Amino acid sequence: MYKFPTSLTSMSAAMTLQPVMRIQACSFKIEKERFGCRTKVPRNANMEKLRNGYLFPEISRLELEHIEKYPNAKLISLGIGDTTEPVPEIITSTMANYANALSTADGYTGYGPEQGHKALRKAIVKAFYKDLQIKDTEVFVSDGAQCDITRLQLLLGSKVTIAVQDPSFPAYIDSSVIIGQAGDLKGDGGRYGSIEYMNCGPENNFFPDLATTPRADVIFFCSPNNPTGHAATRKQLELLVKFARDNGSIIIFDSAYSSYVQDDRCPRSIFEIPGSRQVAIEISSFSKFAGFTGVRLGWTVVPDELLYSNGFPVIHDFNRIVCTCFNGASNVAQAGGLACLSSQGFKAVNSLVDYYMENANILGEALASVGLQVYGGANAPYIWVHFPGSISWDVCKDILEETHIITVPGSGFGPSGEGFLRISAFGHRECILEAADRLKTLFL
Ligand SMILES: Cc1ncc(COP(=O)(O)O)c(C=O)c1O
Repeated sequence: MYKFPTSLTSMSAAMTLQPVMRIQACSFKIEKERFGCRTKVPRNANMEKLRNGYLFPEISRLELEHIEKYPNAKLISLGIGDTTEPVPEIITSTMANYANALSTADGYTGYGPEQGHKALRKAIVKAFYKDLQIKDTEVFVSDGAQCDITRLQLLLGSKVTIAVQDPSFPAYIDSSVIIGQAGDLKGDGGRYGSIEYMNCGPENNFFPDLATTPRADVIFFCSPNNPTGHAATRKQLELLVKFARDNGSIIIFDSAYSSYVQDDRCPRSIFEIPGSRQVAIEISSFSKFAGFTGVRLGWTVVPDELLYSNGFPVIHDFNRIVCTCFNGASNVAQAGGLACLSSQGFKAVNSLVDYYMENANILGEALASVGLQVYGGANAPYIWVHFPGSISWDVCKDILEETHIITVPGSGFGPSGEGFLRISAFGHRECILEAADRLKTLFL
């Protein structure tokens, strides 16, 4: 039986297939010569505006090149941020039972509700929005937060203006470019003319200076943040909600890493902030909390009170988008999601979160011990390391050459990420310990 190739993490190079598949997806050559004929369909001009390839396939390409160069090296990937630990058995057995039942007359199910199964929507409210007045009818189950980012872009259309944290998860900007909101790419460090970049670095405690931030229709805000690992405090999020209310903006709050928050001063949901129901949408995911990166399951909350300028409720349009462009998450994945939120399942997945947080602690301490400026890692599975005056890609390539460790250059997350490196804490413990040793040896 054909088996999907497994993750690269800690494997010897010869055993990998996955990066080869990824690299094919990002080869951009004009193919006229090879195929001899082309259609008369013009390329979408917005696609032409995209900068390079999507960041993570680029990292996979770097990984593959390194493997070809050093076939016997023991590569450790602290790169794209994919989860590595097995999904707890209580969850996989539920999915297996659900899948097996599909072969029986009684157990067969076809399409489910486009918005997700009621039981799962209710369980999400109970697990993540207890006492926050979120209704299950406001929760839309999805196949992952990344897909919902794009569906929200489709909902909002090309005419809205957007603001993003800089640095930020690349899908916000790339999906804005694809939908036509971004304007043209400028020379100044790769910024798009119509996007407002809100600098978030150590100098402003990773929170934008809202007094000097121009109004935008839509503000993408991720906390805990990928890549900086910073979790916004309640005070910071209160300022953000006030800013959105004063300006009549919509916040798209990405809480994909909310389960990693350890500090009580940092809310896990934007809906913990009074007044947010009129100005915020929240997207979230089972990926990083339950190891569902491959299973695919997430959700979006759109409150009833969120209205467009003409008074029409946003939730009705989002429902329309979901029904038209999606058709609902896999029933098997939803069964798994429900198992994650059972009391036993919840305990099991939270122990995975604890495991990755211990990894973050090991890496953070190792890097700090050799005098590097280290941020993040306390409320997120990412360490953000500063190399003042250096070019991120150079540092990333040097570390790879010297230690066979894959990291991600900060500049891939936005111009303000230049000079930083993102190190992921997703990995088997023995790889994390070895990576910590190799990095300490390199920087001592
Ligand atoms: C901030 C953030 N949002 C969304 C996603 C995508 O999540 P999903 O796997 O649910 O599509 C990621 C994945 O790395 C992420 O880092």
